[in-house]
Amino acid sequence: MFKSLPSKVRIVEVGPRDGLQNEKEILPLEDKLEYIKLLSKTGLDTIEVTSFVSPKAIPQMGDANELFKAVDQSLNKDINKPCLVPNLKGLEAAMESGVSEISLFSATSDSFTKKNINCTVEESFNRMGEVAKIAQDNKIKMRGYVSTAFGCPYEGEVSVDKLLEVVKRFFNLGVYEVSVGDTIGVATPKQVDSILKRLSSEFDKNKLAMHFHDTRGMAVTNVLVSLENGYSVFDASSGGLGGCPYAKGASGNVGTEDLIYLFDSLGIEHGVDMKALVDASKFILEKLNKSTTSKYLKALLSNEK
Ligand code: HMG
Ligand code: MG
Repeated sequence: MFKSLPSKVRIVEVGPRDGLQNEKEILPLEDKLEYIKLLSKTGLDTIEVTSFVSPKAIPQMGDANELFKAVDQSLNKDINKPCLVPNLKGLEAAMESGVSEISLFSATSDSFTKKNINCTVEESFNRMGEVAKIAQDNKIKMRGYVSTAFGCPYEGEVSVDKLLEVVKRFFNLGVYEVSVGDTIGVATPKQVDSILKRLSSEFDKNKLAMHFHDTRGMAVTNVLVSLENGYSVFDASSGGLGGCPYAKGASGNVGTEDLIYLFDSLGIEHGVDMKALVDASKFILEKLNKSTTSKYLKALLSNEK
């Protein structure tokens, strides 16, 4: 073990988007902006800012236009600021706000996709095809997300062949990277090992990111298995916030603090300042009046008492 780990990783911070989308209480824009500004001081080079989705579907993201414009004015230009876009209407709004990178999203399962974006997987690719064409014409970078890659809340086990097909369709749209999502945190180490080996037999692992939710406490272990398989891009959420309103029982993303602790223990370079990250998490958790699900942060905070 630990012989073939990458020397360096890239973290995609999804706290302001995945972390907040499940929160019922709508936070003021100023608090979201301050949270993102604090995250930008940590050394993270990619912060997913918001979603240009229907405010009826995700009320928390109803301020996407104003928030993105405010963030764009405040943050260092070198920080990547992807935003979720589900359709042409979302793309138009994102472009009007000055977004230069979008995340397209679909899943392996029709049942989840219907609940999440009110269409089948096939229909979602037709929609995304139209979005991708305009995005490319306007030199907007694109990332792809495949949800329910390791299991679906409605259909249970999913076929790996189907996952490979969806990943391929994303690359055909022109995305630079596909994030493989364990939406409901059901993935287990042996399964992750086997699926990642299948994925890297067909695709360049440097173009695949792993997106683990920590519902059943397996996320850090699954990240370790991914590292062992040579994968080096990980989505995470500060303080372990997160979840998808359309995925029953899904809880937060793997905490960014927990990943930093793991990477430090393995001598893997990540470029993130833990103290600055903890400040950002403490700020947002206080605003949400929530306790953290990040094990590292929980331990740190209990020692501070
Ligand atoms: P729909 O109801 O089929 O859409 O929803 P529609 O085209 O019929 O429009 C309905 C209404 O929404 C209309 O307004 C539209 O104008 C409006 P009305 O006329 O009724 O007043 N609308 C919009 N408004 C703002 N921005 C838009 C937009 N589009 C339509 N872009 C739709 C389809 C896709 C819009 C909806 O289902 C939706 O927004 N879904 C988003 C759900 C979502 O954000 N889920 C969470 C993100 S995915 C995730 O978390 C997983 C991930 O983390 C990876 C993992 O963990 O697996 C990425
Ligand atoms: Mg997610």
